[in-house]
Amino acid sequence: PREDKTDLYALLDAAANWYQQQLPKNPDAQAYCRKRGLDADTIARFRLGWAPAGFDGVIKALGSNERRMQLLNEAGMVASNERGNKYDRFRERLMFPILDRRGRVIAFGGRVLQSEQGPKYLNSPETPLFHKGRELFALWQVKQANAKLERIVVVEGYMDVIALHQAGLPIAVATLGTATTPEHTEILFRAAPDVVFCFDGDRAGRAAAWKALDAALPRLRDGRQAYFLFLPDGEDPDSLVRKEGRDGFEKRIREATPLSDYFFGELSHDVNLSSLDGRARLAERARPLIARLPDGAFRDLMAQELEKRS
Ligand code: GTP
Ligand code: MN
Ligand code: MN
Ligand code: MN
Ligand code: MN
Repeated sequence: PREDKTDLYALLDAAANWYQQQLPKNPDAQAYCRKRGLDADTIARFRLGWAPAGFDGVIKALGSNERRMQLLNEAGMVASNERGNKYDRFRERLMFPILDRRGRVIAFGGRVLQSEQGPKYLNSPETPLFHKGRELFALWQVKQANAKLERIVVVEGYMDVIALHQAGLPIAVATLGTATTPEHTEILFRAAPDVVFCFDGDRAGRAAAWKALDAALPRLRDGRQAYFLFLPDGEDPDSLVRKEGRDGFEKRIREATPLSDYFFGELSHDVNLSSLDGRARLAERARPLIARLPDGAFRDLMAQELEKRS
């Protein structure tokens, strides 16, 4: 393993700067940002940029010698073809730098402007600096904006985070196209005592919510609370905050479902609780999950609640 990662950080920072410089030069990318309602301040705060067409933009700008090419490779900024020739991984994409907790660039996400142009989002691969299961998009911006954080909101996408910050709710982060991991939940609870998991109202969103609950259970020490916010089908935080404004979305956050309600609701929804057999099924499902909670008042009360319901 590499000992000193200083030059990798420096290279990724230079790449972010270079993409930022390309954005004003591309009218399509500019028009796209306008269409998505991104203002200049937001673009600057999130260091959004543009990866131009062509296979060697980043390589020409930053890969001037063998050492630098090796760093570009290690940082996940280039890919190689069958003949071993290197080319820019990100091309014709709006670029979202992913920063670590200290504000250093560690990876990128890139979005195509039109859906026909391949996968909608492309992320950096795992590198010595970037482990998807541990990073949260915009955690640094959240920490910059809040001296003391009561509550942090986890949403699905880059644009959701950015729209919420721009609307005046700089308390949103996102996982990076992966399910919420136990490591994510630990980082979230260290940032704020209340964590609100907010998912799209579609099937994928509901599946993601249960995975988040599963990841949160062992981290729910006393003093920590998890909530779940489900959006109407077809909406995401970006679309909704534009419709309802800051106050409307904040109200949804305040009224989010506590974990205990979501837990028993989800485990009972297909169970007939008026029969002993149904209550037995609920108990079978709930017990092993409750057993994964850390010792404490919350676990005791969840166990009591299960007794009452079954
Ligand atoms: P917009 O269409 O730009 O508003 O994006 P979105 O964030 O609403 O996208 P969506 O709800 O489809 O996906 C949520 C998140 O999942 C995205 O922000 C990405 O992080 C991730 N994601 C979506 N599509 C892809 C993809 O094609 N590849 C990868 N790796 N991740 C994706
Ligand atoms: Mn590793
Ligand atoms: Mn969705
Ligand atoms: Mn969206
Ligand atoms: Mn979405």
